[in-house]
Amino acid sequence: MGQAATVEPKLDLSVAEGSEILKTRNLTIDDIGRLRSLESATRGIMQKYHAAMRQMEVRFEILDQDLNAKQNRNPIHHIESRLKKPASIFEKLQRYGKQTTIEDMESYIMDIAGIRVICSYISDVYNLLDLVKRQDDLTVLTVKDYIAEPKPNGYRSLHIIVQVPVYFLDKKEIVPVEVQFRTIAMDFWASLEHDLKYKAVRTIEGIDSYDELKDCSRIIEDVEARMQILAKALETEEKANAELA
Ligand code: GTP
Ligand code: MG
Repeated sequence: MGQAATVEPKLDLSVAEGSEILKTRNLTIDDIGRLRSLESATRGIMQKYHAAMRQMEVRFEILDQDLNAKQNRNPIHHIESRLKKPASIFEKLQRYGKQTTIEDMESYIMDIAGIRVICSYISDVYNLLDLVKRQDDLTVLTVKDYIAEPKPNGYRSLHIIVQVPVYFLDKKEIVPVEVQFRTIAMDFWASLEHDLKYKAVRTIEGIDSYDELKDCSRIIEDVEARMQILAKALETEEKANAELA
């Protein structure tokens, strides 16, 4: 008999990890005590967020494989996932004016489990959203469409909070997961903007970096729309040729 494989969830729960968020803030001795107790309280509870996150990843992989098999399409370029660190949870609870307890964490922090689904085209984003809405054991709690209405700085993506059932030995738990859908182009902009916004300098050689980034976002949006039109035209052509053959 072969040995059963054990899969250790890679949970990163140390206070040191993710503490860069807290570096810029002056934590009191009491805050540090509260952070440590939140950290130890989260230990037992992160397992279900980890499980929910993996479930959502697998659901998207299955949709991608099925679309590939039946329609010869690959809507998903790649998927990323992360669990929110205790230090980030702590910071967000304080920012929301909530108590830094497990109860408030479970009630107010909906992005403890997060996945990012990076698609080829905008049409893939909305198609996947529809497919998720049609899975009857999932509940889409909120949809924030920053593609239809980009943020003032030019950020574009579609965010949803979806509840997924997780089955354990003795119980079923309904766990929220944040899913961020974006295209490769949106991801390119968001990744660079994320790095640049932490730089202290805003104006360089007379160029305002905020305005410049916003303008880049508009240009990327335009390029993306043109690529989408091209892809649609090629697809139609391919279908017509296949029918003739
Ligand atoms: P958070 O407290 O940041 O979670 O805000 P929120 O709960 O109101 O959620 P929102 O939908 O505004 O955005 C949450 C997440 O989207 C962030 O954690 C980032 O991953 C991403 N995001 C939102 N705005 C921006 C932005 O301007 N730039 C980049 N690079 N990412 C962003
Ligand atoms: Mg968030």
